[in-house]
Amino acid sequence: MVARHMSRPAPIVLIMAAGLGTRMKSDKAKVLHELAGRPMIAWAIEAARAAGGGRVVAILGHQLDAVKAALDARYGAGAIEVALQAEQKGTGHAVASALPALAGEPDDRIVVILSGDAPLLRAERVAQLTDACAGNPAGLALLSTVPDRPMPYGRLVRDGAGTLLRIVEHADASEEERRLPDTNAGFYAIRLGHLRADLATLRADNAKGELYLTDLVARAAGRGGAAALDAPFEEVSGINDRVDLAAVDAVARRRIHEELMRAGVTFAAPATTFVDADIPIGRDAWIGPGVVLRGKTSIGERARVDAGCVLTDVAVAADAYLKPYTVATEAVIGARAETGPFTHLRPRSRLDEDARVGNFVETKKAHIMAGAKANHLAYLGAVSVGARANVGAGTITCNYDGFAKHHTTIEAGAFIGSDSQLVAPVTIGRDAYVGSGTTVTKDVPRGALALSRVKQVNVEGWADRYREAQSRRKKDGGGRAE
Ligand code: UD1
Ligand code: MG
Repeated sequence: MVARHMSRPAPIVLIMAAGLGTRMKSDKAKVLHELAGRPMIAWAIEAARAAGGGRVVAILGHQLDAVKAALDARYGAGAIEVALQAEQKGTGHAVASALPALAGEPDDRIVVILSGDAPLLRAERVAQLTDACAGNPAGLALLSTVPDRPMPYGRLVRDGAGTLLRIVEHADASEEERRLPDTNAGFYAIRLGHLRADLATLRADNAKGELYLTDLVARAAGRGGAAALDAPFEEVSGINDRVDLAAVDAVARRRIHEELMRAGVTFAAPATTFVDADIPIGRDAWIGPGVVLRGKTSIGERARVDAGCVLTDVAVAADAYLKPYTVATEAVIGARAETGPFTHLRPRSRLDEDARVGNFVETKKAHIMAGAKANHLAYLGAVSVGARANVGAGTITCNYDGFAKHHTTIEAGAFIGSDSQLVAPVTIGRDAYVGSGTTVTKDVPRGALALSRVKQVNVEGWADRYREAQSRRKKDGGGRAE
């Protein structure tokens, strides 16, 4: 979050995102492609909001319905306003398409204009841009950048005194102009009154035949010149194709890691981990190599998430210990609970505090209560396992009869012997025992022992006699030599 400047009024934020995104070669709108788990356009919105932005208007055209639906789903219906730019006639035309939505706003309000395909702009920078506009006599500020490789960007043209005269687009620039070092990063803050007046004067008399938003800079020259703030190229560079997407994603992820490390999280090997945006991780948590944290996951203080864990929408409480290769989705892991190695928690799995599930245990719609254990090789589906119950190796809840799923209840303190099948619906009473190898088909009363295996017979000397008979047959040539 950015400390809000006392006198800074909340700017209106416009996000240009109507373009086709042709180079993505995708059926999906460009601004809906994700970086670190967040749609591209949401990065700009989040930066604008963190900078104290007021109304946010997305200028949409291509795939308007899909983009609007994604914005409504993420921010609530209508929270992000939408202006339609039906035909893409340039950035000046895009911004003009949003003016009707701002009809009731006063001329002195500041409008921040961002690009939906440049996700790494920091909130601090949006705030600086707003302040620079507020303090600029011409009422216009923009971000400039010096790219680290040749980019077809607009160039900033200044007079001898350094006053910004105009921006010349790459397509319209002479060889000499293309050698100018400062380029236009494509982010602006402008007083609404100037925006209204100056957009009306734009003409498409240029190489692309478009209405260039950048021509506003020449209008501001007559009022003393726009302010240009330099920003690092890495922060302002945009996404045109999937190569850019991967490069910007890597920068976004590095930034996420660094913020978390500065907040007290240890990453054993940050270059190998993937943590989506908006994932809270508590102080002194330890994240091992190759860990992937996605979606609405959260990690509590001092939790240890060891190598190779993949968590999607999982709430991990303080001091939990996820041993290597725990794969979990839509699950809750309680305080001090332990999982893995090689545990699979499927949707609606919940481990209360101090519960433990070990290797090759799969759970689904399972509530494992405080201190209960299933340490090896089990399938626990549609089940509640009471506090301190012990589920032995090889236990299977048979919850599906081919048509419907049924529930198993294992009450507190019960002991399920190894290799048992619990045929649902069924209840194992409090503190009851299920003998190893039992197929439970009837409820087991509290404190009882359930046993379904056949009685064992020992045939004395049988093995010795068997071996003798077999080897005699082999010597006689009667049997095939092994
Ligand atoms: C623009 C700037 C250029 C700057 C560069 C930085 C202009 C005229 N030029 O060029 O000076 O160096 O950005 O990246 O503004 N869009 C619409 N509707 C349209 C056209 C574009 O919504 O009709 C949106 C696009 O989806 C994109 C943004 O505006 O998000 C920028 O448009 P783009 O076509 O990429 O402009 P550039 O040619 O890159
Ligand atoms: Mg562009």
